[in-house]
Amino acid sequence: MSTITVLGIESSCDDTAAAVLRWDGVAEVLSSEVSGQTDLHAAFGGVVPEIAARAHAERLDLMVELALEKAGLGLDDLDAIAVTSGPGLIGGVVSGVMCAKGLAAATGLPLLGVNHLAGHALTPRLTDGLAFPYLMLLVSGGHCQFLIAHGPDNFERLGGTIDDAPGEAFDKSARLLGLPQPGGPAIEEAAKAGDPCRFDLPRPLIREPHCDMSFSGLKTALLRARDAVMQEGNRLKRQDVCDLSASFQAAVGEVLSAKTARALEAYMALAPSEPALAVAGGVAANQSLRAALAVEAKRAGARFIAPPLALCTDNAAMIAWTGIERLRAGGHADDMTLAARPRWPLDSAAVPMLGSGKKGAKA
Ligand code: KG4
Ligand code: ZN
Repeated sequence: MSTITVLGIESSCDDTAAAVLRWDGVAEVLSSEVSGQTDLHAAFGGVVPEIAARAHAERLDLMVELALEKAGLGLDDLDAIAVTSGPGLIGGVVSGVMCAKGLAAATGLPLLGVNHLAGHALTPRLTDGLAFPYLMLLVSGGHCQFLIAHGPDNFERLGGTIDDAPGEAFDKSARLLGLPQPGGPAIEEAAKAGDPCRFDLPRPLIREPHCDMSFSGLKTALLRARDAVMQEGNRLKRQDVCDLSASFQAAVGEVLSAKTARALEAYMALAPSEPALAVAGGVAANQSLRAALAVEAKRAGARFIAPPLALCTDNAAMIAWTGIERLRAGGHADDMTLAARPRWPLDSAAVPMLGSGKKGAKA
């Protein structure tokens, strides 16, 4: 197949997305449409799975139509339909899989069930043509893990969070400080005017000789520091919020830097021909965290790649791209027994991760 055109569908969390990608030696994103649900969940302090699933079911066909229209194509022009079939909030994943099955049944097109995490992890190949193996840090509201991408279907997990994802910690901490959601950008903004040394927050697991991380204790420490300030002066002043934000961000940054350095050490031992560290996920939008990761990459002699934010956060272009990678590698299509999976670790040999975040299963 010299030209491959694939429709991608994503609905594993709180974004309903559809995209059309074409490969003819180079990749082209013909369209990538995302409909977020932040407004629907705002009053609940987290994603409500039932509300998310219903919104996906209502919006999926509209998003598919929109993506095809923007690409200037019809279903006849496609070679395959790729859909996130896990991991994620099961109601949403089921909605997407049912939509894709319906389209595949009606058109006779091959159906490709894609791992959402593989979508994130393969994005730097779509945006920057990275060669395998490269090191990947997924860092968002629902994910946090280091992966070595060896091939389109071959990922080695070096470590990840054992509790909250960093984005989740940013969001919960922002709430404790009376800042708006999503918490990441709000804390980053407040931190600019803050003193990162005023509060001595913990750096969990930083000295442990592995790549696992923990962020839930940090948020509890922030709560204690906040309460101590409030006991002294009753009200939290703007400067206190800025200092708490800066101290929190510095702690997350130091942990991520230290663990990235460890992950790079393991990765560089493979003597990759074109060493690279790539990031994906909403937290990668944070300028100071991004700068800290770039420093670690440079120190290790690796290129640092941060795809454009629209392709870093949840989207369907990455799902279509993963489908294209599979077809290029001669992989098989799925059939109508394709199941929606709440959990689906990328590296089945790695020890399973614990728990489940507010945005669903982490692996
Ligand atoms: O990748 P994403 O859009 O969605 C998933 O979690 O799947 O990531 C959203 C997360 C939120 O928790 C948000 O607070 C965090 O990314 N985030 C940030 C920043 N922008 C978004 N965290 C820190 N600094 C930022 N500038
Ligand atoms: Zn994601």
